Amino acid sequence: MNTNKKLYIETYGCQMNVSDSEIVGSIMKDIGYEQNDKAENADVIFINTCSIRDNAEQRVRKRLQEIRVLKKKNPNLTVGILGCMAERLKEKLIEEQEFVDLIVGPDAYRDLPQLIKTVETGRKAVNVLLSEEETYAEIEPVRYGDNGISAFISIMRGCQNWCTYCVVPFTRGKERSRDPKTILAEAKALFTKGYKEITLLGQNVNSYAWEENNVTFHELLKMVADISPKLRVRFSTSHPKDISDDLIKTIADNHNICSYIHLPFQSGSTAVLKKMKRNYTREWYMERIEAIKKNIPDCGLSTDIIAGFCTETEEDHKETMSLMEWVSYDYAFMFKYSERPDTIAAKKYDDDVPEDIKGRRLQEIINLQGKTSLANYKKDIGKTFEVLVEKVSKKSDKELAGRNPQNKMIVFPRKDYKPGDYVMVKVHDCTSATLMGEIVD
Ligand code: 5AD
Ligand code: SF4
Repeated sequence: MNTNKKLYIETYGCQMNVSDSEIVGSIMKDIGYEQNDKAENADVIFINTCSIRDNAEQRVRKRLQEIRVLKKKNPNLTVGILGCMAERLKEKLIEEQEFVDLIVGPDAYRDLPQLIKTVETGRKAVNVLLSEEETYAEIEPVRYGDNGISAFISIMRGCQNWCTYCVVPFTRGKERSRDPKTILAEAKALFTKGYKEITLLGQNVNSYAWEENNVTFHELLKMVADISPKLRVRFSTSHPKDISDDLIKTIADNHNICSYIHLPFQSGSTAVLKKMKRNYTREWYMERIEAIKKNIPDCGLSTDIIAGFCTETEEDHKETMSLMEWVSYDYAFMFKYSERPDTIAAKKYDDDVPEDIKGRRLQEIINLQGKTSLANYKKDIGKTFEVLVEKVSKKSDKELAGRNPQNKMIVFPRKDYKPGDYVMVKVHDCTSATLMGEIVD
């Protein structure tokens, strides 16, 4: 076995990728690799990549130019590309980036020890097989670089909704759920180690289904919440078509399941939603939001929005803006549509909204969200929230920072508290991204 070898992993893209890098860290640890926080003196560099939009791929390509220089200086360095770009581009990535030794897709990480051996014999190694079963269920992730308070647990992999704009079904394969026994064991072990918050992760957590004993998502959520009232539970990401009344009720009924839902709507126009193949209408989405607000009155809400999808008219764009106003999200992730090769949209539709119009619409969306966030944060002034302390504030070591159940960051003077404590904080000020407050004992 190799000992004292150093692995450096750099992660791009979603939380799922962060979680995957922790699994990769664990597999590599078993063959003697320790994690290192600098690329410069690593023996192996892995770049865990994202393909969701063209600019995500361009960022990785830029970074690869710097890694190429490191490889020139140290020919013994092994460079691997993991994740969604590896899956999407496969061997083509080696043609494009000839200094890269390894190409490994998201379902092939168990093969890393073999692939590393292949590279040690001077050959290139590629494994981009997708799996219908792989969930890395029993692998204990190396929780490298987290705060020791909140952790991600992936509960399912893949996606088969086939939204017409999206590359994920190509890069992450079919939907499959992880054995709940292993999820619960991981959550319990984390709680015993002192973690206080768990985020259950999947591309579409609401379609979690463990067929052996019929466990659905809201049941799994409840089982994790039952580990301890002192363990907060969150989840991401949800598809509006699957937000069930059972799930809403489970959140409403359990104090330690955070009142926060990330519910991407993508477009406020039913015509555009249909072209995106989202399987819901504007009205249907609004009805789900009404159900959430009625049952969980203090629920934090965030969303994802795409500006300028194929055929989007000015009228469609206005419908997106009016839906944003109607829901009043606390936060939004906002993007310009980026055509991805091989997707249904790329094959069937024209990317016909000019770049300057996409840019202008996105800017209008961003401006509106800025105003809404500020207004929502202002409404919290005077309220008191339970906050899980996550860290010492970046700006001052006399202050602590943590989130309320609605996922808003709050900063407050530390008194005698420390990360991992629960405190009640009364808000007295805010910006559009942070609340400021005072601990009330
Ligand atoms: N172009 C722009 N945004 C996209 N997203 C997914 N695919 C694309 C694309 N081709 C956005 C969606 C999704 C989020 C993760 O990324 O809003 O919810
Ligand atoms: Fe990016 Fe999607 Fe892959 Fe996550 S699953 S890394 S968002 S392409």
